[in-house]
Amino acid sequence: MTLQEDRPAETVRAIDPSALQTARLTLRPPCFEDARAVAALVNDIRIAQNTTLIPYPYGLSDAHEWLRAINGNARDATYLITLHGGDVIGACGVTVRANGKAELGYWIGTQYWRQGYATEAARAAIDHAFTELGWDELQSGARISNPASRRVLEKCGFQWSGVGLYRIRSIASSAPFDRFRLERGIWSSLKDWGKAEHAM
Ligand SMILES: CC(C)(COP(=O)(O)OP(=O)(O)OC[C@H]1O[C@@H](n2cnc3c(N)ncnc32)[C@H](O)[C@@H]1OP(=O)(O)O)[C@@H](O)C(=O)NCCC(=O)NCCS
Repeated sequence: MTLQEDRPAETVRAIDPSALQTARLTLRPPCFEDARAVAALVNDIRIAQNTTLIPYPYGLSDAHEWLRAINGNARDATYLITLHGGDVIGACGVTVRANGKAELGYWIGTQYWRQGYATEAARAAIDHAFTELGWDELQSGARISNPASRRVLEKCGFQWSGVGLYRIRSIASSAPFDRFRLERGIWSSLKDWGKAEHAM
């Protein structure tokens, strides 16, 4: 998936075969024209303080920088999450870390929280990672003070694997994160996602 700067957003949406569909959402590759919508959603300390790399305040130039940098690795797959009407509500995807492992990450604009969107999007990205991208294991993490993210991971079948200390750019400080792992075998046995929900 590559950033398609030279094509209008509507064109990309209409023809891109790599978009993922869920019941309520479309996950599509970002394009340069998304910068304004991304900046408007991300410029909130409640998002920045729960992620490692997002600055705060977050302006248009930060969005441009992010859009230029993402999906640089052939096995990265970061998507913008949109409602079927086209509104951008967040981002979700898998990136390859320096240690060669795949990390699931996501954020949702605060006005869209607690409607199940992160879980719905994460499940689509996870399915894509295990099927199309061929990963056998995914990792993720949630700041210890972030029960919503931990709950999303649990609802997707992730299992706790330890604790780590991570630098958080927006607060210029480190904070402990719970680390989680999802193995192919677990994903496969929960593939009917209803089972993951009921197991929790
Ligand atoms: C974490 C985040 C993506 C969740 O998005 P969301 O769309 O609201 O998530 P969902 O609605 O799919 O699920 C949230 C779950 O957490 C629960 N939850 C939310 N706030 C909670 C809280 N304060 N305490 C306990 N549970 C909470 C919800 O009830 C829901 O669980 P349920 O379905 O069992 O009721 C969103 O809060 C966010 O973007 N946070 C900032 C960025 C971030 O943390 N990203 C992840 C970094 S690893």
